Amino acid sequence: MSAMNDNSVKMHWVLTVTTLLAAIQAASPAPTVSLLTDLPRFKNLQNVSIRSVLKTINDKRLKTSTFYFGSTIADLTLNTQNAEWTSARFKDTWNLAVAENDCKWFSNEPVAPGVFNLTACQSLRDFAFQHGIAFRGHNTLWHNQRPDWLVNNPFNFTVSQLNKTIIPTAVQTVVQGLGKNLVSWDVVNEALSDSATPGMSLTDCVVSAQRWPTFAIDGNSSSPMLFHDSSFINTAFINADKARKKIGSDMKLFYNDYNVWVTHSVTHCALKLVESLQSSGVAIDGVGIQSHYSANAQAFPSKESSHFTMDRLKSLGIEGAITELDVWLPDNSTASLRWQASIFGDILDSCLFSTNCHEFILWDNRDDESWLDGFNTTGVHQGTLFDANGLPKLPFFEVLARLLNFAEGGAEPCATSSGTSVCVL
Ligand SMILES: *[C@@H]1O[C@H](CO)[C@@H](O)[C@H](O)[C@H]1NC(C)=O
Ligand SMILES: *[C@@H]1O[C@H](CO)[C@@H](O)[C@H](O)[C@H]1NC(C)=O
Ligand SMILES: *[C@@H]1O[C@H](CO)[C@@H](O)[C@H](O)[C@H]1NC(C)=O
Ligand SMILES: *[C@@H]1O[C@H](CO)[C@@H](O)[C@H](O)[C@H]1NC(C)=O
Ligand SMILES: *[C@@H]1O[C@H](CO)[C@@H](O)[C@H](O)[C@H]1NC(C)=O
Ligand SMILES: *[C@@H]1O[C@H](CO)[C@@H](O)[C@H](O)[C@H]1NC(C)=O
Ligand SMILES: *[C@@H]1O[C@H](CO)[C@@H](O)[C@H](O)[C@H]1NC(C)=O
Repeated sequence: MSAMNDNSVKMHWVLTVTTLLAAIQAASPAPTVSLLTDLPRFKNLQNVSIRSVLKTINDKRLKTSTFYFGSTIADLTLNTQNAEWTSARFKDTWNLAVAENDCKWFSNEPVAPGVFNLTACQSLRDFAFQHGIAFRGHNTLWHNQRPDWLVNNPFNFTVSQLNKTIIPTAVQTVVQGLGKNLVSWDVVNEALSDSATPGMSLTDCVVSAQRWPTFAIDGNSSSPMLFHDSSFINTAFINADKARKKIGSDMKLFYNDYNVWVTHSVTHCALKLVESLQSSGVAIDGVGIQSHYSANAQAFPSKESSHFTMDRLKSLGIEGAITELDVWLPDNSTASLRWQASIFGDILDSCLFSTNCHEFILWDNRDDESWLDGFNTTGVHQGTLFDANGLPKLPFFEVLARLLNFAEGGAEPCATSSGTSVCVL
């Protein structure tokens, strides 16, 4: 059973998907691209494991701190026919796991305020630690996938109760409960508006998103306003920081959102948010750049845009992380598959070759488990590195080649996804 058979999971993606579908409708033909795997040095990588290359990168200290190449795990996936395969890939491919759903608020505090059940989240953390790999927490505050008691009684809590009790208790309990050995937490997820415009104030960036807890009813701007500003975000970060100090952890605290570099206006809001937290003395260590892209000219960032965002975050003294990466394929032609490989490769390079990017994380492990295939749209989705039989695809080998190139001290490849008119390797 795929994770997409769960309605709540489907719901969680509505916003992101609207953006994705708009982009797909404007699909343009794949350009001819140049790939590292075309070169003799990177042609025969069948027997090289990604984990061995990650070990070289980390042993040689080629990054300013440990480099993580991660993917998702879900209770559902671990209990299917793919369980053995999944376990093997978290030994030879990924060195970090993030929970797809089981560390979200609805899972952690399901039945009533103050009644926590961290079992599902902790069991995925334990899976990661048993495999000797890192674990990222996702997430402590999001408008979506909240507990029913918080969704169904929108007028039952005052702003003061939310700000002083409900949010602080949830954030602190979860961060402390998962413990000091996590690498990072997405503290706040998707609080910024899709319709952000350059120059918007931070308050407008948040209010125009029309989401809870700005509005009592998520997505309903006619419902009463709860918070009139972005201070619930401060509250979440303040309490995550308190919790990590209590448990003596140096884990990183992230804000995580989509469109952070596709439309620069959302990037603008994210940077404003970071500046606002910093000027209030609230700790934030990074921005997670959710990367649900499509092999389509308008639906993924150019390499220049990726570096622009990483550099701006660096100038604020914080990290960028690639999170939730998959690349939707509109058709399964060889040209599209090659384009997909070049997009994965360019995004990986923009992280590898930035000194402030240490986590590169995929969303879903193989095509038959991908949330993309839960959508009733035409087209071939196949957005992951492994096919429906669990076999590595061309994008897998291209990603491996980019990692090897970096591990061997190679120069940063040019922007291959822009096509051979711009970049020939
Ligand atoms: C990979 O390993 C197998 C078994 O050791 C060997 O038969 C095969 O030739 C190797 N392939 C490459 C491309 O090195
Ligand atoms: C806590 O969650 C686990 C995993 O979802 C579940 O098996 C268990 O029954 C829950 N415990 C309680 C007390 O509800
Ligand atoms: C509303 O909150 C109060 C406590 O603040 C609680 O006693 C009551 O059960 C809640 N009502 C619902 C419907 O959840
Ligand atoms: C939006 O909220 C208002 C005020 O609470 C309510 O009257 C209206 O029915 C809601 N609309 C929808 C679509 O939920
Ligand atoms: C919420 O709490 C934060 C501190 O955590 C505070 O700065 C802010 O003013 C509070 N917001 C409201 C609306 O009370
Ligand atoms: C490519 O798509 C066509 C049409 O949907 C399908 O018949 C074919 O099996 C697909 N091939 C692969 C390799 O997925
Ligand atoms: C997909 O969409 C078509 C056309 O709108 C509809 O007839 C069909 O029932 C849908 N299938 C699923 C699985 O939702």
